[in-house]
Amino acid sequence: MSASLRVAYITTELAPYAKSGELADVAAALPKYLSSLGVEVAVFLPYYRRPELESLEKEVVCASLPVYLGGRVVKGRIWRSDAGRFVLFLVDNPRYFWRENIYGSGRGDYLDNDERFIFFSKAVLETIHYLGKKFDVLHCNSWPTALIPVFLKTLYQRKKIFQQTATVLTLHNVAYQGIFPPESLALTGLNWKYLQSGLLSLNGHFNFLKAGIVYADMLNTVSSSYRKELWTQKHSHGLAHILKTRRDELVSIRNGIDYEIWDPENDKYISWNYRPGDLEGKRKNKLDLLEEFQLSLDPNVPLLGTSFYFAAHKGVDLILGAMDELMKMELGLVILGRGEEIYERSFLSFVKKYPHRLAVRFDWSPALVHKLAAGVDIFLIPSLSEPCGLNQLYSFRYGSVPVVRTVGGLQETVRHVDPRTGKGNGFVFKEYTPEALIAAVQEAIKCYRRPSLWRKIVRQGAAKNYSWETSARRYLRLYQQALRKQKN
Ligand code: GLC
Repeated sequence: MSASLRVAYITTELAPYAKSGELADVAAALPKYLSSLGVEVAVFLPYYRRPELESLEKEVVCASLPVYLGGRVVKGRIWRSDAGRFVLFLVDNPRYFWRENIYGSGRGDYLDNDERFIFFSKAVLETIHYLGKKFDVLHCNSWPTALIPVFLKTLYQRKKIFQQTATVLTLHNVAYQGIFPPESLALTGLNWKYLQSGLLSLNGHFNFLKAGIVYADMLNTVSSSYRKELWTQKHSHGLAHILKTRRDELVSIRNGIDYEIWDPENDKYISWNYRPGDLEGKRKNKLDLLEEFQLSLDPNVPLLGTSFYFAAHKGVDLILGAMDELMKMELGLVILGRGEEIYERSFLSFVKKYPHRLAVRFDWSPALVHKLAAGVDIFLIPSLSEPCGLNQLYSFRYGSVPVVRTVGGLQETVRHVDPRTGKGNGFVFKEYTPEALIAAVQEAIKCYRRPSLWRKIVRQGAAKNYSWETSARRYLRLYQQALRKQKN
């Protein structure tokens, strides 16, 4: 059956073209691995104004697609590009998507995100209808595409082409729900009764993610620990109750990593290729990274690094709170990423204070992110919540040892080192305090000073395979489950 399965993978991020978080990496990898299993995959993405997207070889498949937004018709242009193992459809509307960022700036979200992503979601359905291309499963990701299952079972219910189409919604991070005023419902063309009945709303707001949770045939989280955490109010951000009603349809599938892209032996972005576990090769990349960031650090001193979206749930407050203490220790620190402006400013003030040992760049172009993975000794992931996390998996592959807070996917992939036996692949801490982070870093540095122990830790990290192959097979099973559900 898998040979003929057709899946539309609908995403608002896709590496290397459009990235705000790790969803971009997942979206670039999973469709490829699904296609290796015989699935026919089409990826749908908004056409952002990015040179990489503009220079893609592509053709217009529909020059003027009408999309109904409330009482108005907004036109979209649909492009098709052959992206190797999958077909890429780009939904083009310059007013909505030709902006600097995907969701907003460092000062907050774009104010018309409801309109932008309702347009995108409807445009995807209209494109499928227009092309007459039947899909078995529409795989939606996070709140921006979470209304697709709702539209499918309401406005598009009678369209023949969708009659056997099932939906899957992946919950990458429920901290982001797409919460809008009730009036935004007018943009959807749905009847008010849907909002009044509470199916689409939470606490009086129109909530895209909640709506998707109610309507999707199947749901999944990106690690099993995160699935368990979602039963608590704290981690579910108010969705625990509604998630419990769908307990049987909520499965967990841990993200993998794409070893075609994340392989230090063949990585095109780093200066020296090396085998996982080879610390000599890694050292050359460390020298390269120090030079790139102009840090005057003795190469024998441990180099720490991290790259992430600067938001509270990623633990940025812990890094800032620990900074003065960290800088008293003998180490260097390189930080890459982007995010909320208030955090960017705090980082800059620390760079002024510690220019020789701290480097920060508001950038996460693949070249820099890969150089960082290859060049640092220790990778910090102090997240408040982490549905899966990919950086710890990249670190294992590149011989960097992760220091993580034990939460979500981090909890199930990183095992604390026992310095006596040498067993373990990283350092974990529990309390969400700068002190706990500092203590874990101190412990890591103590082990770093014992080269044979360190080598052992690095090798244990590199030993386990986190390829997408296994997870892609599990998605295949999830699609079959969704199809069965859809039929009932
Ligand atoms: C979100 C989560 C992250 C996860 C990623 C991909 O960004 O915060 O933990 O790895 O989605 O699923």
